[in-house]
Amino acid sequence: MRIENKAYRTIWFEDNLVKIIDQTKLPHQFIIKDLKTIKDAINAIKTMEVRGAPLIGATAAYGLVLSIIEKNDLSFLKKSSENLIASRPTAINLKWAVDRMMKKLSGVNEKDILKIALDEAKAIAEEDVSFCKSIGLNGLKIIEEISRKKKDTINILTHCNAGWLATIDWGTATSPIYHAHQKGIKVHVWVDETRPRNQGANLTSYELNEEGIPNTVITDNAGGILMQRGEVDMCIVGTDRTLSNGDVCNKIGTYLKALSAKDNNVPFYVALPSSTIDWSIKDHKQIPIEERNSEELSHVEGVDENDKIKKVRIYPQKSKSLNLAFDVTPAKLVTGLITEKGICEASEKGLKGLFK
Ligand code: MRU
Repeated sequence: MRIENKAYRTIWFEDNLVKIIDQTKLPHQFIIKDLKTIKDAINAIKTMEVRGAPLIGATAAYGLVLSIIEKNDLSFLKKSSENLIASRPTAINLKWAVDRMMKKLSGVNEKDILKIALDEAKAIAEEDVSFCKSIGLNGLKIIEEISRKKKDTINILTHCNAGWLATIDWGTATSPIYHAHQKGIKVHVWVDETRPRNQGANLTSYELNEEGIPNTVITDNAGGILMQRGEVDMCIVGTDRTLSNGDVCNKIGTYLKALSAKDNNVPFYVALPSSTIDWSIKDHKQIPIEERNSEELSHVEGVDENDKIKKVRIYPQKSKSLNLAFDVTPAKLVTGLITEKGICEASEKGLKGLFK
């Protein structure tokens, strides 16, 4: 998608380097950063220079390419893969991409390994672009259905950033919105701020602005009253791990939005590529929920009147904090899952119907 009218992807390989858009600096500064080593790739994931489940997966795949460039040695590659998987535990796309790469590279000789690794990392990125595009076309049908009944602007609420910045292009939750906008359907997006890291305010609002899509940033607690007032036609969110029973793990606060949507009869959809499905566990209590640094809560970052980035503490140093990064929305609160293969019920039957 576009930034200042120029099309970008979030990650690419050029001159033996991995290039990323440093998302910790957005929306105030647009910086393209080089990742040169496996350590750089792990650091980019940990510090959230790259974030969002599909993009974390692609970065891990390219990280293994960097590992081979650095040292073409099997035990180094194995260690790199383990360190990558441990860098952010909740989003399953990370493990999925590392496992896919390691399977492809198993038994490959030293001479061919770099080319095969690079081709596979590129294939993972390309596949995500095509899956996100299909998610958009499938989700568009739901928006078109609403627009047949409602002639006015359609108000869609989203949480966190499941936009193109969280993927390689298009996004998951935003892809149906971009497709609807391109078809001339009037859409407006309620963007949850998404404390503590403000991915909604900093990233979703930014990318929608760049595509010319009307949007309004709201506090994380405002969705409920907007739904009660009939000002939300549908919710679409992304996910970091969806279980085969349809339970959805996503950014902290998603569950409360789903509860509110249920109480107000607002359709609540989750958009995801199949790389986000965890077929291996049945109970959401087994999902490792990332607990992040309390400084993400106690401090906020922004720009001062001279456009200089500043970080300030907002509550007493003594106060304790708990910073859980994700929660789980039970399948019963999800109206449907929008995938690259179509839309299904959030259940084992629904998912297995699409993914045999
Ligand atoms: O902590 P983040 O910013 O990586 O969390 C991102 C989300 O929760 C997204 O909603 C999710 O990864 C889906 S991305 C298409």
